[in-house]
Amino acid sequence: MAPSETEGLTDVQCEACHGPSAAHAASPATAPKPVRSPPVETCTQCHDGAQDGGRFDWARYRPQVVHPSGPAGG
Ligand code: HEC
Ligand code: HEC
Repeated sequence: MAPSETEGLTDVQCEACHGPSAAHAASPATAPKPVRSPPVETCTQCHDGAQDGGRFDWARYRPQVVHPSGPAGG
C-alpha cells in the first residue's frame, strides 16, 4: 500500500517526507537529493504536539509509514 492510499494520509505527499524531488529530477548533479530515510525532525514539522494533540510517537508511528519503494519491494 502506498502512503498516499493510507487513510488519513491522503493529503500528505511524497515531498512532505522526502523533500523536493522535481528540482532533483531536472538537474541531478546540483539540486538537493530527495531524503532516503526521513529523520524524526521531518515528521515533527507537522506532528508537533499542537497539530496532532501530542499523539506522535516516533517508535510507534515510523513503522506505520515505512513502505516498499516499488513493485519489487525495495
Ligand atoms: C509519511 C512520510 C512518508 C511519505 C508521505 C512518503 N514516504 Fe517514502 N519513505 C518514508 C519512510 C519512513 C521510508 C523508509 C526509509 C528507510 O527504509 O529507512 C520511505 C522509503 C521510501 C523509498 C525507499 C528508499 C530506499 O532507498 O529504500 C522510496 C523510493 C520512497 N519512500 C518514495 C516515496 C514516494 C514516491 C512517496 C509518495 C508516493 C513517498 N515515498 C511518500 C516516509 C514517507
Ligand atoms: C506535511 C505534514 C506531515 C508530515 C511531514 C508527516 N505527517 Fe504524519 N500525518 C499528517 C496528517 C495531516 C495526518 C492525519 C492526522 C489525522 O488524521 O488525525 C498524519 C497521520 C499520520 C499517522 C496516522 C496516525 C495518526 O495519528 O493519525 C502516522 C502513523 C503518521 N502520520 C506518521 C508520520 C511519520 C512517521 C512522519 C515522518 C516520517 C510523518 N507522519 C510526517 C501530516 C504529516
